[in-house]
Amino acid sequence: MTHSQDSVAALNRAFVHARAHIEGLGSAPVGATVGADELRARLGGALPEHGSPPVEVVDALVAATAGGHLGSAGGRFFAWVIGGSLSSALAADWLTSTWDQNAALHACGPAAAVVEEVAGRWLIDLLGLPDEASFAFTTGCQLAHFTCLAAAREAVLRTAGWDVNRDGLFDAPRIRVIVSELRHASVDRALRFLGFGQKSLTVLPTAADGAVDRAAFHSALGGGPGPTIVVLDAADLSVGAFDAFEELIPSAKRSGAWVHVDGAFGLIARASRSMRHLLTGVELADSWATDAHKWLNVPFDSGFAAIRDRAAHRASMTVNASYITPGESVRDQIDWNPEWSRRARGFAVYAALRELGRTGIEDLVDRSCLHARDLVSGIGGLPGAQVLWPPTLNQGLIRFLDPRPGASEEDHDRWTDGVIREINETGEAFFSGTAWRGRRAMRVSVINWRTTAGDVARAVEAARRVLRRAA
Ligand SMILES: Cc1ncc(COP(=O)(O)O)c(C=O)c1O
Repeated sequence: MTHSQDSVAALNRAFVHARAHIEGLGSAPVGATVGADELRARLGGALPEHGSPPVEVVDALVAATAGGHLGSAGGRFFAWVIGGSLSSALAADWLTSTWDQNAALHACGPAAAVVEEVAGRWLIDLLGLPDEASFAFTTGCQLAHFTCLAAAREAVLRTAGWDVNRDGLFDAPRIRVIVSELRHASVDRALRFLGFGQKSLTVLPTAADGAVDRAAFHSALGGGPGPTIVVLDAADLSVGAFDAFEELIPSAKRSGAWVHVDGAFGLIARASRSMRHLLTGVELADSWATDAHKWLNVPFDSGFAAIRDRAAHRASMTVNASYITPGESVRDQIDWNPEWSRRARGFAVYAALRELGRTGIEDLVDRSCLHARDLVSGIGGLPGAQVLWPPTLNQGLIRFLDPRPGASEEDHDRWTDGVIREINETGEAFFSGTAWRGRRAMRVSVINWRTTAGDVARAVEAARRVLRRAA
C-alpha cells in the first residue's frame, strides 16, 4: 500500500466505527460497562517491538476500548457539564486532524489563522462583548482563565508601576483576588499557575440564590487600596447561579479592580432572549472565559478567552524567537495564546456557529433549559425524591431520601449516592453527584444538542423504576 492508501484505509475504518458509535447512542448503555482493570488488561502489555498496519491498529483500538466510553455524545447524558458535538463541528474536527495545521502562526496555517479571526469576532458578537476585545481559542475554560488572569496580572501591576514581564513577581506589589465561595476550582488553579497562593484570595460568601453576597462584596472592595482582581461567576457549576454583574462590576471598576468572569457555560445564555436578563451588565467586565466544548457543542479541546485590554493581553502572551517572522497585517495566534504549537481549534468552532447560526444557538439554550426543568420536575416529583434546586438555567439538584424511619441527613447522603449509582447502572441515563450546602445531591445538567423530550421521558422512567425498587 502507498502512504495515502494506508491513510484512506484507516480513515474508512474510523468512519465505520464512528458511524456505529453514533447510531448506537440511542440503544447502548450510557455509562461504561467495563472497569479500569479490564481496560488495562486489554490495552496494556509491553510496548510493541514492531509496528502494525494502520487499519489493524484502528480496529484493535476500537475493540480494546469497547464499553469503556461514556455515552456523553448522546442525549441521555446529564452528568457534570459535558456538551456533545454538533454534526458539522465533529466533521470539521476530523478535517482539522487531516489538515494537521500548526495554528501557532499565520505562516504555518493561513486558513487556520483566518478562521480563528472570523470565529473569534463572531463569538464576541454572539456573547455581546465589547467590539474592541481581543480573544484566544484555548484548550478549555481552564486555560481561558489562565490567559485572562495573566492579562489581569500584567494590567493591575502595570497600573501600580510594576512591569511583571521584566521584573517578575518577587517584590511586586501584592495583588488581592476577590472570589466567590462557589467559584470553580479551575480559577484557583489558573491563579496558582500565575504565582498566586491561597493567601491572595478573599473568599466571599454567597446568598441563598448562590450569587455572591453583595454586602460582603462591597465591604471586601473597601478593604484597602492596591492592585485587585475580582472573579465573578456567570453560572456556577452546581445551580447555574449568576452574580449581580450590573451592580458589582461598576463598583469594582470604580475602585480600580480588574473584573474577570467565569462563564464556562453560562456566558452562552447571552444568545437567548429569554435567559439574557440573568447576565445583564456582564459586558462591563474586563475579561471573560468560556467554553465552546460545553454549550456550543464543539468537540473537546475548545475554550475561549476574551479580553477588553488588548495591550495587556498581548503583552502577557506574545513571544519572540529567532525563527518567528511576525506576520504583517495578519493575526498570529501565538501573540494571544499560552501555547506554542497548537491544534487549529477555530475550524470546529466556525462550523458550529455556521451550523446553528444565532437563532439555532438560542434554540439550543432554550431547549436545554426546558429539558432541565422537565427532568428535575419529573424525577423530583417521584416518591422518595426531593427537589433541592429547580433549574433557573440548565442545572438542577435532586436529593433522594432514605425511607427508613428516623433516617439522618447522613443516611440521605448515602441513599442519594446509591440511587444515582443505580440509575446509572440501568444504562438508560447518566448523572453525577455533588455536595450542595454540605448535602449530597444528584446534579441534572442538560447541555447536549441531541437531548429530546423522549430522552427526558426515558431518564424519568429509569429513575421511577429505581426508586420503586428501593422503596
Ligand atoms: C463553571 C466552570 N468553570 C470552569 C470550568 C473548567 O472548564 P474546562 O474543563 O473547559 O477547563 C468548568 C468545567 O466544568 C465549569 O463548570
